[in-house]
Amino acid sequence: MKIPFADLKKQYAAIKNEIDEAIQNVILDSAFIGGKYAQRFEEAFARFCNVSHCVGVGNGTDALYIALRALGIGAGDEVITVANSFIATSEAITMTGARPVFVDCDPATYNMDVNKIQPQLTPRTKAIVPVHLYGQPADMMSIMRIAKDNNLYVVEDAAQAHGAEIAGRRVGNFGHAACFSFYPGKNLGAYGDAGAIVTNDNDLAVKCRMIANHGRIKKYDHDFEGINSRLDGIQAAILNVKLKYLEEWTERRRKVANLYNSYLDGSNVITPVVLPKTRHVYHLYVVRVQSRDRIQAVLQEAGIATGIHYPIALPNLQAYKYLGKSPANFPTASKYSGEVLSLPMFPELDEAQIEYVCKNLIAAVDHR
Ligand SMILES: Cc1ncc(COP(=O)(O)O)c(C=O)c1O
Repeated sequence: MKIPFADLKKQYAAIKNEIDEAIQNVILDSAFIGGKYAQRFEEAFARFCNVSHCVGVGNGTDALYIALRALGIGAGDEVITVANSFIATSEAITMTGARPVFVDCDPATYNMDVNKIQPQLTPRTKAIVPVHLYGQPADMMSIMRIAKDNNLYVVEDAAQAHGAEIAGRRVGNFGHAACFSFYPGKNLGAYGDAGAIVTNDNDLAVKCRMIANHGRIKKYDHDFEGINSRLDGIQAAILNVKLKYLEEWTERRRKVANLYNSYLDGSNVITPVVLPKTRHVYHLYVVRVQSRDRIQAVLQEAGIATGIHYPIALPNLQAYKYLGKSPANFPTASKYSGEVLSLPMFPELDEAQIEYVCKNLIAAVDHR
């Protein structure tokens, strides 16, 4: 059996006619940048997130940069984020001129350890960027409490968490803004790069839209210098089609995760811990195992594609050597980077495939 890590071709085959027609319409209307398809998607995605504003941008990294910059974050500021994420999170902080300050991750959920925030606060701290990693929301109640007590902004990195919830409240409704990626492999993925910022703050939405479009609202009337990071009409039209299916796909991902949990129950594989009242949307299904690299190779031999998210914790990367930290400052993220293994996860995965993955995984883990 051959099991891919994700299967975008299968997804396309199921919605081909709708997608092809949507792309055709954008071309016929020449609505390539912004325009009615981008606007329709922004409105639909704001409804999906249950927020008042959505600003479509070029990608998720830009979304984070634009939101932080719109909040006035820049040179001389510090922004707290989590050691276990994709580099885009901290890159966006650096892009504003601010300095990323990493905190370790929680041993159970792999999200930001809220108990590690307080010791990192300085008079220069301006914001926190929690990441809803793998599709599970960070502990936003605690993070918002700390932010409020210390007068900090919060920008949620929701790149992996479209539709995730805490107590029925969708991500995007906790921080001052939240940022999404629609990279093709994401739960809601375009056919190229795309991203969005959502917020309930009208002024912030206007500021983000201006930054993303050369600092202007009207053509050739620029209040300040911005950047060029706009949502492409073709991507918006594709996202609009796919958004209709997102809930159904998310429920299938959750079902896949439940099947994995039951097949792996009682084994030596550490399965994801989901907090109570939390809707995990399983962008990734990440387990922890000893001898991870050997196990990954054994699975590869059996035709099972896996991933590692992420093999090096952010502060341990060469890119952040200048911060002068060591793995001992981030013991959990540093240890887990050698143990995490992402199993195949996509809505179309069937039970026979899941059983095959689990049987091979358990056999590999038990064969020491
Ligand atoms: C946690 C996280 N943040 C930010 C990003 C950046 O998104 P993009 O690739 O659309 O720039 C990604 C995805 O790549 C991500 O996984």
